[in-house]
Amino acid sequence: MTDQIMRAPKGTFDVLPPDSERFLAVRETLTAPLRRAGYGYVETPVFEDTAVFSRGVGESTDVVTKEMYTFDDRGGRSLTLRPELTAGLMRAFIEHRLHTGALPVKLWTVGSAFRYERPQAGRYRHFTQVDMEALGVDDPALDAEVVALGVQGFRDLGLTDFELLLTSLGDSSDRPQYREKLVAFLEKLDLDEDTRRRAEINPLRVLDDKRPEVQAQLDDAPLMVDHLSDASKAHYDAVRQYLTDLGVTWTEAPKLVRGLDYYTKTTFEFVHSGLGAQSAIGGGGRYDGLSAALGGPDVSGIGYAMGVDRTLLAVEAEGLDIVPATGVQAFVVPLGAEAKRLAVRLVGRLRQAGISADTVYGDRGLKGAMKAADRSGASHAVVIGERDLAEGVGQLRDLRSGEQTAVPVEKLFERLRDTVGR
Ligand code: HAM
Repeated sequence: MTDQIMRAPKGTFDVLPPDSERFLAVRETLTAPLRRAGYGYVETPVFEDTAVFSRGVGESTDVVTKEMYTFDDRGGRSLTLRPELTAGLMRAFIEHRLHTGALPVKLWTVGSAFRYERPQAGRYRHFTQVDMEALGVDDPALDAEVVALGVQGFRDLGLTDFELLLTSLGDSSDRPQYREKLVAFLEKLDLDEDTRRRAEINPLRVLDDKRPEVQAQLDDAPLMVDHLSDASKAHYDAVRQYLTDLGVTWTEAPKLVRGLDYYTKTTFEFVHSGLGAQSAIGGGGRYDGLSAALGGPDVSGIGYAMGVDRTLLAVEAEGLDIVPATGVQAFVVPLGAEAKRLAVRLVGRLRQAGISADTVYGDRGLKGAMKAADRSGASHAVVIGERDLAEGVGQLRDLRSGEQTAVPVEKLFERLRDTVGR
């Protein structure tokens, strides 16, 4: 029998060193602005009762109808691996009655999401999102804060080739009238059965149809932004005013349709020009009906999710070096059993003192050990040979210049600490 190598499931991948440092840097940089703006960290389960998503994300979406990892657990409950993080956060907000405290409640989280999509570059079945939500207050200034924080995260990474697409999807007071107009328009078009059925559940989704034969018929489609109520229009105008005040630029995107059904009013997406078909590196918007749809109080919310994996692709597409110096500061190379005990102690003390240090494990010999020292990223190494030990010294070596000095064994810790810790 031939051995079959086990592989990660289709549409998933492993993040390994040294690339994982870039992954961490993206995650950190996208979350730092949130922490600075008073958002609090939350964790929710990676699976929820299926209804959280079917009711929350919406029955007309591909996400709910085709892409969820849904299963019955051994107790016969229908559970679903989260395809996104917002609905679970809202479930937690309602369950813990956070709306009874000070508003807005500002939350962020980061973690895995799962969608059974057709894998391609930038589109995976398991991916990571940085997600933030501001709940309980409908204030255009808050919409602007949310959008601006998203922009900040990308800017902090050094990204420049991205664009903010912005629109307003109206709310329950103006969307129904617009919907009627759109349905009437779509009825006159030449559409296949599937698309007609889609249009019945959510006609907006047809605007997002990428097929050229459909797009060609949509030039004169009525647009939500032209049918906003006075209140929705005033809201959107205020959001744009605040965004201008915050130095954020955007592109009006009246045909922007998001993949999830809960959006109302301010809706946005970040697209990057270096990514090909899967160009959205993040997106979000206001979702004033979500809490009620999940059985909670009638409170509003707005937030976004950034795709960590796609943002990393964008960072690579722009050739940005985002990784702070990695590797250890100091490396210890012992030769022989006695030197090894000294090395283990020395590395332990350095680490306790907050200095990153490493040594070799297994019998590597001098050549192999020096290679490991070079690869470790350390600026300095201590080489402790048998002859050195007999003389009570170790060789402190500057790995960049190759310069070497003998240091008494009992002084090695202080010398290393003071040299690399500067
Ligand atoms: P979304 O647009 O579905 O929004 O996802 C946000 C981001 O996650 C996308 O822009 C993309 O970067 C990344 N993403 C989505 N699907 C995949 C995939 N299959 N592979 C790799 N990356 C992917 C949401 O999920 C909303 N919950 C955002 C939100 C928060 N709205 C309000 N609050």
